[in-house]
Amino acid sequence: MIKDLEIFYFTGTGNARKIAMWFGECAENNNISYKLHDISKIDPNHITVKSNSLIIIISPIHGFNYPKITIDFIRHLPKKTNDVILMNTRAGGRIGKLVTPGLTGIAFILASIILRGKGYKIKGEIPFDMPSNWISIHPSYREKTVKYLHRVNYNKVKNHADKIFSGMKDFAASKDIVQDLLIAPISFLYYLIGRYAFAKSFYASYKCDNCNLCVKECPVNAIKLTNNRPYWTLKCESCMKCMNNCPKKAIETSHGLIAALVILMLILSSLIPFQNLGDSSLAYWIQFIIKNILFFSLLVFLYRIQQIFLNCKFTARIISYLSLTHYKFWGRYKSLSEFKWKNPV
Ligand SMILES: Cc1cc2nc3c(=O)[nH]c(=O)nc-3n(C[C@H](O)[C@H](O)[C@H](O)COP(=O)(O)O)c2cc1C
Ligand code: SF4
Ligand code: SF4
Repeated sequence: MIKDLEIFYFTGTGNARKIAMWFGECAENNNISYKLHDISKIDPNHITVKSNSLIIIISPIHGFNYPKITIDFIRHLPKKTNDVILMNTRAGGRIGKLVTPGLTGIAFILASIILRGKGYKIKGEIPFDMPSNWISIHPSYREKTVKYLHRVNYNKVKNHADKIFSGMKDFAASKDIVQDLLIAPISFLYYLIGRYAFAKSFYASYKCDNCNLCVKECPVNAIKLTNNRPYWTLKCESCMKCMNNCPKKAIETSHGLIAALVILMLILSSLIPFQNLGDSSLAYWIQFIIKNILFFSLLVFLYRIQQIFLNCKFTARIISYLSLTHYKFWGRYKSLSEFKWKNPV
């Protein structure tokens, strides 16, 4: 019999918090007391967990894995024997009445291994296909789609809550295991390389009025100021909170810089005589490492140059015009308030 629920969540744009709140609501309806904890506000060295309470951990998926902040939280949990349900919010989509699923990758596998090693018992793994917030790579969804996905997931939470609160195990994610294992190599590449590249894809455009909101609200303190202008460090998790919350819509993705980087990489790679290395697997790895070092050196160099050009109104405008995120049709994403999504479409 479940008496207590501790829900730990991390969120960038509110989807995971929504699922956490909806679970809390279901717990209350079942006379189960619950507490919500925001992972970004917890000191990882002082995590306390009540013995005997059921633990729910919920976080978005970033690059087919939980983001680093969530993995760090899980790594720092004290050794205990509590039951745990792992959940995630992924990039759901909509085709008519069908919800297209996102991809969990290694998130549940990795978290389960760490938690089992500490003594916890995994009682469920459940993905929720909420709207994708990755607006660096695609335009934001229409409000109608967002409302639809909120409604579908709200009902899904109620069904899973009924199952969990009646004492059953709930491994809804097990049907995805083959695809999750197949994309595992990409998860590792994103964790080791990709997330650093995405961290350097943000900049504050000429519309920034230095309100400092992004600096203060970043859950991992990844934005610092250089020449009184926001500057994204490699600590950024690409959670999308700053980009979607900026009151001036001044945070953009540097599509121009990414295009310049790709062109420069192609030119420089063609100038390096990689063919002299032969075609052994060692040669492949040497090539891979050299290309990655080159890629990151160029990215950091171009990012710094861009930061200088952003200080000049004329060049700052050109940088903005080269970003798709600058244009109105692209939009921004935040999960909807209860009032908004509960209204009829
Ligand atoms: C950098 C980044 C990487 C993402 N990677 C994935 C992914 O691998 N698989 C997936 O299904 N969704 C992915 N997404 C989408 C988010 O997981 C999804 O929109 C989630 O619901 C956001 O939750 P939040 O609002 O709580 O931050 C990614 C989003 C971002 C910003
Ligand atoms: S929140 Fe927007 S306007 Fe405010 S400092 Fe950050 S980028 Fe500039
Ligand atoms: S800098 Fe922005 S995108 Fe990166 S972690 Fe902070 S709030 Fe999230």
